[in-house]
Amino acid sequence: MERTLILLKPDALQRALVGVIISRLEARGLKITGLKMVHMDKPMAHQHYSVHADKGFFPGLVEFITSGPIVAIVVDGKDSVQIVRTLMGETDPSKALPGTIRGDLAKDIGRNLIHGSDSPEQAVREIALFFDPVELLSYTRDTERWITES
Ligand code: RTP
Ligand code: MG
Repeated sequence: MERTLILLKPDALQRALVGVIISRLEARGLKITGLKMVHMDKPMAHQHYSVHADKGFFPGLVEFITSGPIVAIVVDGKDSVQIVRTLMGETDPSKALPGTIRGDLAKDIGRNLIHGSDSPEQAVREIALFFDPVELLSYTRDTERWITES
């Protein structure tokens, strides 16, 4: 099954939107297999966002993502990377559609509440940065049969 990493960024905690956002993930049927709070340090932020190291927004991004605790979540299931990206909406909340997390709850590109891996390959790399393999749990849900058999 495909895994993806979700981060609820410091603004989600500051605005008390953690529960609201997790509810949206669960309501969509996504299966949470890992979840914890983390306060990223600078080296970890540099590693996580290494693809953006040469961008002008990189220093501000690192400053923000390390400014307070975040919630790291792994979800596991068919097409989970794309499903999460669709739920999140566009990177810039001013362009994100209503109905998406960013389109409903955010307005600034630098405070867009949520991260989701952008490919299954990136997800593997990012998950290894946040989770020890023993922290990812395998279990079956009663609802799985009718959610996946459509
Ligand atoms: P993320 O990695 O956080 O899930 O967001 P994303 O894939 O939608 O966007 P990405 O291109 O990976 O950019 C990472 C984060 O950097 C900030 N950003 N600022 N000022 C700008 O032009 C700009 N562009 C990107 C955003 O906070 C974005 O989430
Ligand atoms: Mg990204």
